Amino acid sequence: MVECPCRVEGLSFRWPDGSLALSDLSLAVPGPGLWMLVGDNGSGKSTLLRLIAGVFTPAGGHIHCPSPPTLVFQNPDHQLLLPGCGSELLFHRPESADPSAAARREAVDTTLARVGLAGFAGRPIHSLSGGQKQRLAIASALISGARLLLLDEPTALLDPDSQIDVLDLIRTLCSGPTPLTALWVTHRLEELDRCDGAMLLRRGRAADRWSEGRALRIRLEGLPSGRADR
Ligand SMILES: Nc1ncnc2c1ncn2[C@@H]1O[C@H](COP(=O)(O)OP(=O)(O)OP(=O)(O)O)[C@@H](O)[C@H]1O
Ligand SMILES: [Mg+2]
Repeated sequence: MVECPCRVEGLSFRWPDGSLALSDLSLAVPGPGLWMLVGDNGSGKSTLLRLIAGVFTPAGGHIHCPSPPTLVFQNPDHQLLLPGCGSELLFHRPESADPSAAARREAVDTTLARVGLAGFAGRPIHSLSGGQKQRLAIASALISGARLLLLDEPTALLDPDSQIDVLDLIRTLCSGPTPLTALWVTHRLEELDRCDGAMLLRRGRAADRWSEGRALRIRLEGLPSGRADR
């Protein structure tokens, strides 16, 4: 049996002002693959990813992820810390990894190639396009050894070609012989057609099951804009 890469049970979360952001939210990611979350503004999607990532502490409930999750932000400029692509990746490489110069170079080169940035080790980060920065942020997660990626609207700030490139990249990483798991928040309903399953969040609660992405897109497109929580 495939181990569930992320299970959340009865999760609740309150802001310091007492308002409830999540209420008794449960979901289980069934296995590796690309899983998408949709929902109106304020339905709790970003809060949920931050709780799974351990940035916030829940008021109640349980989160179980066998492999530590890594967050990928909407804006890679909020995530990338160092001036160069190679140094950024080395910063995220586990301390336990082989420290020799050859092993470090090999790890950086292979990881950059996995995200379509082969040969970029010496490039300053400020010279990258938005899509390339987003792929570098994903490379940072990969070199850290992450098997569960939490992506909060990762294409929201990208041009249409880069949106497709980043989605294609995550699809590739989440399929094949050793697939990763991605939990991807989106407002772009067309992206739902590319996922393995989609879930609607409404007012801090999740639907009781995963839907086929295309079917959920068609259902949501039939609703008046902004009415998914009705
Ligand atoms: N610091 C805070 N204090 C109180 N309420 C907050 C705080 N931060 C966020 N919220 C509220 O928590 C709710 C859930 O926010 P969250 O950012 O998780 O929504 P979201 O589904 O990601 O929305 P969007 O689609 O706009 O990104 C919203 O009503 C938001 O206003
Ligand atoms: Mg959000």
